[in-house]
This record gives sequence, structure tokens and C-alpha cells, in this order.
Amino acid sequence: MIPVLLIHGPNLNLLGQREPEVYGTRTLVELEQAVAAYGSTCGVKLLCKQSNHEGVLIDWIQQASRDAMGVIFNPGAYAHYSYALRDAITAVAPLPVVEVHLSDIAAREQFRHTSVTEPACAAFFAGKGQESYFDAIDFLVGCAMDDQE
Ligand code: DQA
Repeated sequence: MIPVLLIHGPNLNLLGQREPEVYGTRTLVELEQAVAAYGSTCGVKLLCKQSNHEGVLIDWIQQASRDAMGVIFNPGAYAHYSYALRDAITAVAPLPVVEVHLSDIAAREQFRHTSVTEPACAAFFAGKGQESYFDAIDFLVGCAMDDQE
């Protein structure tokens, strides 16, 4: 199995009740279960974590190369301004970190249009709900296959 770490950032613990018109009615646990189920069909074993705290997210990214061959990361609003998270993602290279968002950040308020973390990431998928995460799984499975060649 390919070990992949799924990390959610701030306010994503409130999925299901938070702005359902934007993020849907599915809870974080339900989303994690759907991503894990999809991953298991592609040989991925998913470990899921969520924190509202920037430093905790940085610690998890720094530790990720010990536990995983890749990371799927929804940084929440930190995507728009956390250069510390961007540096953490750069620091663990070549570990692939894939940024995902449920919503299409480019089509929302101006402050969401820029992701400062995206340039440090190996790939970026947004605006497709859970499909953004499935695309990230597919990308990381591709990386694992490239590593084996
Ligand atoms: C989000 C988009 C961010 O702009 C927002 O702050 C979130 C959720 C998404 O998954 O669409 O918390 O990361």
C-alpha cells in the first residue's frame, strides 16, 4: 500500500455545518472516508489529520516524509497568506505535497484568488469538491509508480 497523509487546515473541522452552500453538507469524517475508500481502490492507505493551528500543520508537514510518500493538503485560508506553510512544503522536497480545495478559489472573493502555498506544491486541484481529492490521489499514485521505475 502507498502511505498518504491527508491534512486539513483551519475551519475544515466544521464541514457539514459551515457554509453548506459553498462546501456542501458532508462532514469532514464523511469526506475523509470517501477519500480513503477511493484511495484503497488505487492501493493507497490514507492517514487523516486536521488542525486549526498553523504551527501544528507545519510540524505535520515536516514529519510527513517519515510516515508517507506524499501529502494531500487543504490549507484552508492559510493558502492565501501563510509563507511559513509554503516554506515547510518547500523544506520537505522532494516529498510531493498536493494542494486541494473543495471550492473554486479563483471564482470566489478576490482575497482567495492567490494561493501562496501552491507554487511549493507538486500539484493543485480545486473546485471539484471531493473529486479534487480523488485527483490528488491519482497524482500521488502516478508519483509512486514513477519512483518504482
Ligand atoms: C477552502 C478554500 C479557502 O479559501 C477557505 O478559506 C477554506 C476552504 C476550500 O477547500 O475550498 O477554508 O480551502
